[in-house]
Order: sequence, then C-alpha cells, then structure tokens
Amino acid sequence: MLVLGIESSCDETGLALYDTQQGLRAHALYSQVKMHEEYGGVVPELASRDHIRRAIPLLEQVFAESGARREDIDAIAYTQGPGLAGALLVGSSIACGLGLALDKPVLGVHHLEGHLLSPLLASDPPAFPFIALLVSGGHTQLMRVDGVGRYTMLGETLDDAAGEAFDKSAKLLGLGYPGGPAISRLAEFGDPDAYKLPRPMLHSKNLDFSFSGLKTAVLTVVKNHGDANLCEQDKANIARGFVDAIVDVLTAKCMNALKETGLKRLVIAGGVGANRQLRESLNAAAAKRRYKVYYPELEFCTDNGAMIAFAGAMRLQIDPTAAKKDYAFNVRPRWPLDSLAAP
Ligand code: KG4
Ligand code: ZN
Repeated sequence: MLVLGIESSCDETGLALYDTQQGLRAHALYSQVKMHEEYGGVVPELASRDHIRRAIPLLEQVFAESGARREDIDAIAYTQGPGLAGALLVGSSIACGLGLALDKPVLGVHHLEGHLLSPLLASDPPAFPFIALLVSGGHTQLMRVDGVGRYTMLGETLDDAAGEAFDKSAKLLGLGYPGGPAISRLAEFGDPDAYKLPRPMLHSKNLDFSFSGLKTAVLTVVKNHGDANLCEQDKANIARGFVDAIVDVLTAKCMNALKETGLKRLVIAGGVGANRQLRESLNAAAAKRRYKVYYPELEFCTDNGAMIAFAGAMRLQIDPTAAKKDYAFNVRPRWPLDSLAAP
C-alpha cells in the first residue's frame, strides 16, 4: 500500500510517500523558520499562505524522487489537527482536492500520533507497549502506548510545553526563533554551577509538568543583570542552568513513568527530542535501570510529512476502511490525543 502524507499544521510543509512494503520512498520538507524569525514566532496567516506556495512543488518532488505515479497511491493521509486552523486547511484541502481528482480515499491524521509513531520509522523500532514522552512546541505529555490509537495519558504540562519554555527562554536571551537548538548550543559553553534554576514539580507525586516558573526564573536572572550587562558567558551560563533544569525534570518523570508502569521501553518524540543534552541524560538514566530509549531519526524529530504518511499507513494496515472518499475537509485545531480511538 502506498500512502501520500501531507503535514501543514504549523511552520513546516512536509510531503512524503510511504510504502508498507518498501518503507519510505521519498519525503520533502520546507521549513518556514526564516520567514517567521523576524517576528520572533510563527505568524499564522503567513504560515498558511506559505504552505499554499510550497505544497505543490514538494508534492511534485516526492513523486519525481520516488518514481511513483499519482495513480499508484492507495490513500492520502493529511494532518487534520491539532495545529493552526488556516495552516491545517491548506494541507487538508490539497489532500481532498487530490483525492477527488484521483478518486482516492483520504484520512485525517493526528499530528501527535505522527510524532508518537515516528520512532517506528527508524531501523531499530520499539515494540509495543512503551512509554512515550511527547515533547514538542505545543505539548509535553507522558503516554502509555499499547498499540496504534491505544494511548493512555499519564501526565502532561499544566502550563507551558517544554518546547515553548525553550523558545521563550531563548527569546529572553536574545537568541531568536526557534530557540531550542540555539539555547542548547549555547548551553554547551555554560558553567553548570553558575545558576541553579528551579526544577518545577520534580518531586510531585504525579507525572505532570510545569515549565512557566522556569521561564520566569530565566527572566528574573536576566533582569537582575540588566540587559546591557549580559555578556556571552553570562548568557551561556543562564542557558546551561535552564537546559540542566528542564533535562533533569524530563528525565526524572520518564524514569518514574517506567517504574510505575513496569514497562522497559521509552520512546521520545517531538522537536525537543532532538536535544542532545536530553538524549544524553535519558540514555544514562535508562542504562542504569536497564531500560531502552528509542528516538526518531533526527530529521523526523521535528515536523515532517513522513510521520504523517507513516501514521496513516499504520492505521490503514489495521483498518483499510479508515480512509474514505469523503472530501469535506474538516480540520481539528484542538484535538486531544487520548480521545483517539484504536483502528
Ligand atoms: O515537534 P515540533 O517540530 O513542532 C511542534 O509540533 O510543536 O517541535 C518544535 C519545538 C520548538 O519549540 C523547538 O524550539 C524545539 O521543538 N526544538 C528543540 C530542539 N530542536 C527543536 N528544543 C531543544 N533542543 C533542540 N535541539
Ligand atoms: Zn510537531
């Protein structure tokens, strides 16, 4: 079965062709980061318009690279939500328009399910069940995953997402958007003992998170310095204090989730999963306890079309009727992951 995947929920346009026999046949991505950079964050209207510009050339690219013809596809999977409504509408209308023209069924995919299943695209995929830490720009959730669509929420952030904390703290340090990669690069040069920032909810009895206090702690340190007095080393020290704090909390909660459920496999998904310090910390903590950690390939940590094509294909393999010739492109900007039903 050949599935075309379309991702357009935020600021990346991703197209991909996933074949259940041959694996990923082609994928193409355009990131709008440069365009949003000058505004310090994603401007939804600009994002939608840019998806319109990029999607068709990327579509042509994946067909050309794979050698597949349009009529070879069996279904079209598109990100139905959650995400920016206008941006989602671009992907869904392209999916439905193409479906109608080619007489192929379409399937709306949950963006976070795409992230969650993306480590299964790697060469050493985890078996079910596993614990998943979803750490993206908008979400921080710990889930128990028993199969496709069989997700139990164990804990989530009460306020900011981890990626949001990275982005906001980076902005406070004048590092631009998106801040995650920039702040983690800077942290490499920081003194770990210069600033001990709070580790919110580290010792709470549940698996929930809270990161807005950590961002406020960064703000307080920056203010105490007075903006003009912040030299590069100060910034690196603050970055280090921030990264150490967030990595400690994420690592501890993952270990607690594994211990509480008795599971041995941990999957990390979403943009923050690309973070080097987080990976090192999780690997070390897991090795001590004989757990195994699985990550998506680096290129599939952040938003992409491959994970959407793959998640669609996984669902269709279990239930081939999940894709329908129903082209009323409904998007779901808010869509809780644990409300999904198993196929
Ligand atoms: O999953 P994703 O691409 O988009 C959403 O669905 O939100 O995640 C984007 C988030 C941003 O907040 C970005 O700063 C963060 O992932 N991120 C990172 C790194 N790469 C991306 N955070 C920390 N370290 C990184 N290397
Ligand atoms: Zn995402």
